[in-house]
Amino acid sequence: MKNFLNISDTSIQDLTGILEQAKMMKNARIGLPKGTRDEGQPLSQHIVALVFEKPSTRTRTSFDVGVRQLGGQPMLLSGTEMQLGQGETISDTARVLSRYVDLIMLRTFESQTLYELAKYSTVPVINGLTNESHPCQIMADIMTFEEKRGSIKGKKVVWFGDGNNVFNSFLQAAEKFNFSLIFSGPKELDPSENLTENTKNLGINFRIDRDPMSAIKDADLVATDTWVSMHDNPEIKQERHNLLKPFQVNEELMSRASKDALFMHCLPAHRNEEATSRVMDGKNSVIFDEAENRLHVQKAIMRWCLSK
Ligand code: CP
Ligand code: NVA
Repeated sequence: MKNFLNISDTSIQDLTGILEQAKMMKNARIGLPKGTRDEGQPLSQHIVALVFEKPSTRTRTSFDVGVRQLGGQPMLLSGTEMQLGQGETISDTARVLSRYVDLIMLRTFESQTLYELAKYSTVPVINGLTNESHPCQIMADIMTFEEKRGSIKGKKVVWFGDGNNVFNSFLQAAEKFNFSLIFSGPKELDPSENLTENTKNLGINFRIDRDPMSAIKDADLVATDTWVSMHDNPEIKQERHNLLKPFQVNEELMSRASKDALFMHCLPAHRNEEATSRVMDGKNSVIFDEAENRLHVQKAIMRWCLSK
């Protein structure tokens, strides 16, 4: 069974196959109303459960629309309204849902919950974000980069701010797609040591540079994310702001990147905190293309999960 849980546990052949399929499906829909079904309706007769234990705008709507375009039936479930929120175990939930649906997407807190779901589910499982990773987002980001600039192989990606879930998936992608990655943020918010230690063993071109001005030099892709994630205690907001203000992506910083550097943010953003509106709405920004490509790439991920 094919689960899509992490970039690191999916082969580069499968990852590039997913990106190719996403590109083909996107092109085939140009000019069509959003509700038009794709030719062949590859998910016809299939029901997909979309389970959310955290809020979502993009993941929720892009999966829902994606399932419909593929001819399947989406079933949106909120964790708090399920018995899961009342203490039913994830392993029992997995075994029950598997009797009703053909595919499960989960957005949750601890990645252990996702792995437990995948372990007990008899249908494929997709990671729609955990505290530790967001692989669907990074697939959309790579698709977006390659649409605009060609292969990401050998390119320089610079991440500013918190070494969070989205960053972790970028780091896993750096190994698979062979791009270099720089983390520029305060020591307190360094990515997990386990992950960065692993970069040496895996031969990933990764380094930390705490000086934003030197980190961004010659960057092909500049990315950042919210300073406080959904799994963080909101009370740390002020402390985070103080720590992260020097790593804000603003026009002055962007002017040091390569002229063609793209700016990415997975959204939702807090404008004028992690990035200024002038950067977010500037000529190098591709934030809404990233959001759109969530739809196309996730459709390809769902097809891959259900393929033999
Ligand atoms: N980028 C992303 O996953 O957005 P949502 O939280 O709105 O789904
Ligand atoms: N790091 C953010 C990403 C949101 C898509 C969070 O986890 O809240």
